[in-house]
Amino acid sequence: MARLGVIGATGLVGGEMLRILEERAFPVDELRAFASPRSEGRRLPFGGGEVVCRVLEPGCFDGLDLVAVDVDDPLSVEWSPVAAAAGATVVDNSAAFRMDDDVPLVVAEVNPGDAHRAPRRIVSNPNCTTMVLVTALAPLHRAAGIDRMVVSSYQSVSGAGWPGIHELDDQWTKLDGRSEALRRAGAVDGVIVPGDVWPKPIAGNVIPLAGSVKDAGYTSEEWKLVHESRKILHAPDLAVTATCVRVPVFVGHALAANVAFHRPVRREEAIDLLAAAPGVELVDGGDGYPTPLDGAGVDPVLVGRVRDDPSNPGGLDLWVTGDNLRKGAALNTVQILEALAR
Ligand SMILES: NC(=O)c1ccc[n+]([C@@H]2O[C@H](COP(=O)([O-])OP(=O)(O)OC[C@H]3O[C@@H](n4cnc5c(N)ncnc54)[C@H](OP(=O)(O)O)[C@@H]3O)[C@@H](O)[C@H]2O)c1
Repeated sequence: MARLGVIGATGLVGGEMLRILEERAFPVDELRAFASPRSEGRRLPFGGGEVVCRVLEPGCFDGLDLVAVDVDDPLSVEWSPVAAAAGATVVDNSAAFRMDDDVPLVVAEVNPGDAHRAPRRIVSNPNCTTMVLVTALAPLHRAAGIDRMVVSSYQSVSGAGWPGIHELDDQWTKLDGRSEALRRAGAVDGVIVPGDVWPKPIAGNVIPLAGSVKDAGYTSEEWKLVHESRKILHAPDLAVTATCVRVPVFVGHALAANVAFHRPVRREEAIDLLAAAPGVELVDGGDGYPTPLDGAGVDPVLVGRVRDDPSNPGGLDLWVTGDNLRKGAALNTVQILEALAR
C-alpha cells in the first residue's frame, strides 16, 4: 500500500488521475490532495468517500511515498524537489524536468525500465501529443528503426487545461443559434471575440500554432515532439519535424505522421506489429478509421489509415488518436506509479 499525494487534484489531469486510481484499484493507504488556496477545503470524491483539498506548505509531503504533480511548470519547479527531499518519488506531468539528463522521461509501454533510474527521485511524464504518437510508433521503431518522421498534430482544447475547455465552451455557446448569421458572415470573425487562451477564436476555427513560438519559428509544442520523442525512444539522431495545430475538439489529440525507416516497412508488416502492440488498438481497413471522439475516454491509442508512402517506398503514412487526459497524462502517470509501487 502506498501513501500518495496528488498536486493539482482539482485540475483536468488531476481529476482524471483520481478517477483512474479508483478504476485501477491503486493500493492507496493515504491520499493527500493538493490544490491552490482557492480550493482549500474543497471535497473531492474518492474511493467511495471524500478527500479534502489542502494547500502546499512546508512539511505537507512528510510521510508520503509517491507524489503525482499535475500543475504548471513553475509550481513543479518549486515543489517537486521539496516532495523528493521529503522522501517521496515524484511523477511529474509538467514540462519542468523532462529534458534533464538525470530525470527519466517514461511511456509505460515503451521504456518502463527508465522509471527505476531516477537519481533525483523525479520521473517525468511526456507531453500529451508526444505520448500518443510514441506509444503508437514504438513497435515500428523497435522493428525497423525510425529514421525520420514528419508530423502534423490536431490538438484538443483540453490540452490547455480547464481554461481551454471553458474558452471553447463559451465561444461554442455564442455560436449556438447563430448559424444563419455565420453563414451570411462566412466567418466567425466579429461574432466570436477571442478569449484569454488563444488570440483568435477557437470555435469554428483551426489555430496553426499550438504552444508559443520558440527557435526557428517552431513552437514549444513542436520542439517537445522533437526532443521528447528522441529521449523516450533512445534515438538521439532521430530526425523529426512537426506542425502543431489546435482544433475545436474538447478531448482527444490526433496526429498524421509520415515515417521513414532504416529498412523498408510495408503496410502488412506494420499492421501485424501494431495489432500486437501493448497500449495500441488498430482501427484500420475498409472505411474504418479512429477519430478523437473514438479515442476519448478509453485507454489505448487508436491507429488507422496505415498506408505505404508512394513518394518514399518502404515508408508509411498513418493516423493516431488518443485521449490527452488519459494516456496523454493521467493514465501514464498512474502506470508509472504502479511500477514504482511494485
Ligand atoms: N491537459 C492536458 O492534456 C495535459 C496533458 C499532459 C500534461 N499536462 C500538464 O499537466 C499539468 C496540469 O494541467 P491541467 O490541464 O490539469 O491544468 P488545469 O486544469 O488548469 O489544472 C491546474 C491545477 O493546478 C492547481 N494549482 C494552481 N495554482 C496552484 C497553487 N498555487 N498551488 C497548488 N495547486 C495549484 C489548480 O488548482 P485550483 O483548482 O485550486 O486552481 C488545478 O488543480 C500542466 O503542467 C500541464 O502542462 C496537461
